[in-house]
Amino acid sequence: MWFDQDKSLDAFRTGKGVPWSDHDQRLFCGSAAFYRNAYRGSLVQEWLPALDGVQARLEEGIRVVDVGCGHGHSTVLMAEAYPNSRYWGYDVHRQSIDAARDHAEEAGVADRATFAVAGAKGYPDRDFDLICFFDCLHDMGDPVGAARHAAQTLAEDGTVMLVEPFADDRVENNLGPVGQLYYAASTTLCCAHSLSEDVGLALGAQAGEARLAQVFSEAGFSHFRRAMEPPFNLILEARC
Ligand SMILES: C[S@@+](CC[C@H](N)C(=O)[O-])C[C@H]1O[C@@H](n2cnc3c(N)ncnc32)[C@H](O)[C@@H]1O
Repeated sequence: MWFDQDKSLDAFRTGKGVPWSDHDQRLFCGSAAFYRNAYRGSLVQEWLPALDGVQARLEEGIRVVDVGCGHGHSTVLMAEAYPNSRYWGYDVHRQSIDAARDHAEEAGVADRATFAVAGAKGYPDRDFDLICFFDCLHDMGDPVGAARHAAQTLAEDGTVMLVEPFADDRVENNLGPVGQLYYAASTTLCCAHSLSEDVGLALGAQAGEARLAQVFSEAGFSHFRRAMEPPFNLILEARC
């Protein structure tokens, strides 16, 4: 992150932001490795079982999309745990999609996990039963548009799983070590990328549950609830 200090300073001066793809090469595998730890420890063991009825459906076999999948570690973990389901991972960053394909090959799940370059408002409609956003919705220029596309591509009884960095709705409750880490990363990475895309809402990594609920309500979802609140994340569930 700090190798790009000059780009961040320019972004502050111009207000134009910094696209994710413009960062130092080391950022991509670095951030993927950072997030992967929590996914490995908790995604299959705790987070998916906390959603209403989703684990049983994954075991039976459903259609799952991982939006903003990055290096695809979350997709691969789900594909390993629930082999009867079919997975699609999309991201705007081509290099990350290439890495995700390699990871799926290495893990032996490439038969059921497909990756392609596509934005959160442009991936194909496959009547998905589960749409996942792992630590990426707040990075997007148009999170409401992304949630609206999810509503349009979701099967009738489908679920959106929204994994976001932990944040309380009040700034003063976010000033511990976790909040300090996330505010720093958010300022230089997440808000900067959001400002580089259309709309440029810049929700930031510290959006908090109330603001995220508002995004999903504006996008047409009628149910939104916190499924879990582990120390580093918010695990949220939305349905139309
Ligand atoms: C912090 S990374 C998280 C990646 C991955 N989900 C993970 O948990 O490791 C944010 C990702 O969102 C992707 N992204 C940003 N804006 C996007 C958009 N509009 N549509 C799809 N992906 C987007 C970036 O390219 C990046 O890979």
